[in-house]
Amino acid sequence: MRPDFVIAQISDFHIKAQGKLSYKKVDTLNALKKCIHTLNQLTPRPNLVVMTGDLTDFGTTEEYAVLKDVISELHMPWVAIPGNHDNPETFREAFSDESWLPPKSEFLSWSLSELPIHIVGLDSTVPFKPWGEICPKRMAWLDETLAQQPNKDTVVLLHHHPFQSGIAHMDKQNLRGIERLSKIIEKHKQTKLILCGHLHRFVTTQLAGATVCSAPGTSHQVAPDFRKNAPAHFNLEPAGMLLHHWYKNIGFTTHYLNIGHQGRTYPFYDENGLLID
Ligand SMILES: [Fe+2]
Repeated sequence: MRPDFVIAQISDFHIKAQGKLSYKKVDTLNALKKCIHTLNQLTPRPNLVVMTGDLTDFGTTEEYAVLKDVISELHMPWVAIPGNHDNPETFREAFSDESWLPPKSEFLSWSLSELPIHIVGLDSTVPFKPWGEICPKRMAWLDETLAQQPNKDTVVLLHHHPFQSGIAHMDKQNLRGIERLSKIIEKHKQTKLILCGHLHRFVTTQLAGATVCSAPGTSHQVAPDFRKNAPAHFNLEPAGMLLHHWYKNIGFTTHYLNIGHQGRTYPFYDENGLLID
C-alpha cells in the first residue's frame, strides 16, 4: 500500500559561509548536499520537504545565499520555519519569493491549506534567545488557523521541542509554555503530528493526543547524555532525516533514515529459500 502523501523532514543544517566549519568541526554544507542528494534519490519522491529550523548558523545574508544555492538542487517542493540560529529579517529577505511565506506577517508562520493534509508552520522563536515560546498573538493565530480546516489531518511544525528530552542542556532551551500549546492542540483534534527540530536527535512522544517527532540533524547530533550535569556536547553519529507517510483514513507512519546509507542492498532469500544456516 502506497502512502497518499509523503513528507520528508530535514532539520538543523547550520549552514555557514566561506567554507567555515560549524563549531570548528562540522562540514555542514557538504552534509546538506549529501542530504539533498539522498532526498532526490528517494522513490517514491516525497510530496513535500519540510525544514524545521536552524537553516543557517548565524542568520547572515551570506549564509542564506549559500543555503539557497544548495536547496535549488532539490527536485521537490519545500517549506521552512526559522530556528533560534536563524534571523527573522534575513530569513524573510532570503525567502521573500516563496509562495508559502506571507509577505507582511509579523511572525514567520504560515499554513498550506490546498494539500490533502493541512500543514501549519509555526514560528516559535524568541529574538536572541535559544529557547522558544508561542506568545499570545501566535497562539491566537494557531487557534484560528487550525479552526479553518477542522476535517483534515493536520501537521504542525515548530522549531523548539515541546517536551522534556532528558538531555539537560537542551531542556533548558525547549519550548516554554507547553501547557498553552497543549490546550490548543487538544481543542483541534485533527492535529495528528507535531514536528520539531532543535534537539538534533530523533525523539518521539505525545502531546494532547498528537504524535510529536523531533528530527535528527543533517550534520551533527546532540550527544545522548542523560546525566544531570551532562555537558553541552555534540557528536558525529550518522546524520538523518524523517519520512512521514500519510495514509488516508489511517494516519501517519514515521520512518527514520540515515543520510547517505541507501546504497547496496542484500537479499534475504536465494533460489533455495531464506538465507539462514
Ligand atoms: Fe540546531
